[in-house]
Amino acid sequence: MTSPLARQTIAVFGASSGIGLAVARGAHALGARVVAVGRDRARLAAAIGELPLQLAQADIADEAQVAALLRDIGALDHVVVTAGSVVGPSPLAALDFDLARDAIATKLQGSLLVAKHAAARLRPGGSIGLTTGILGRKIAVNTVVKTIINAGLEAAVRQLARELAPLRVYGVSPGPVDTPNWGALSEDDRRARAAKFASTLPVGFMASADDTAQAYLFAMQARALTGTVIDLDSGAMIAA
Ligand SMILES: NC(=O)c1ccc[n+]([C@@H]2O[C@H](COP(=O)([O-])OP(=O)(O)OC[C@H]3O[C@@H](n4cnc5c(N)ncnc54)[C@H](OP(=O)(O)O)[C@@H]3O)[C@@H](O)[C@H]2O)c1
Repeated sequence: MTSPLARQTIAVFGASSGIGLAVARGAHALGARVVAVGRDRARLAAAIGELPLQLAQADIADEAQVAALLRDIGALDHVVVTAGSVVGPSPLAALDFDLARDAIATKLQGSLLVAKHAAARLRPGGSIGLTTGILGRKIAVNTVVKTIINAGLEAAVRQLARELAPLRVYGVSPGPVDTPNWGALSEDDRRARAAKFASTLPVGFMASADDTAQAYLFAMQARALTGTVIDLDSGAMIAA
């Protein structure tokens, strides 16, 4: 059966790595025309490899760049935002506000900028997919910046789904996913992290980027889905 995404145009902001790269590949496999967006053309080209995707460069935190890029792309069927910077845990007393501002400008404001400039270019039935994260609702100590970004985006999903209707707006909330978003880890630390999640997550393993991409691919094709956040989190939300 042909996918509803076949021949549709999909822009993925954050496509040079991790979940965004997996969404871009998955959408291409379903026949979509994919525009892969990242800040660094060489990094994008290396990640996308031989796949015939359109590569586009923009810093999601820069409104002029986001607006110009979406103007250049023209009409769209779906847009997905997975772009986010690495922000490690920190107690409030030691919080680096330059890093916090950068994380908020990238993921929270950047998602709103994409929604703002994509909305007028999306065809009927189109969707805006945002990426939140389990820490928006499940409290872990020393992660207040991630909490406010993800909780803010969850609220934005509900708000924008009403405001921009009949366009659809949804979120995907990943739990721990095996991607570079954890920063540089040694091989030992990587193994220890995988073992920890294997023993604590209900599914018994940490999701891959491809596992997580399934939620966006489903949401883009689900014409009645809007105003909600899909927890594709290996069961992390219900874990002890
Ligand atoms: N991995 C997890 O465990 C996990 C858990 C919960 C939630 N999440 C969320 O899932 C999302 C994706 O995470 P990931 O694990 O896929 O991360 P990742 O592998 O580090 O990829 C992040 C992507 O964002 C892009 N990016 C960063 N800053 C940007 C900017 N200013 N403008 C445009 N693109 C930018 C990066 O591209 P360039 O650097 O090349 O520009 C890269 O393609 C993030 O919002 C993260 O918070 C991840």
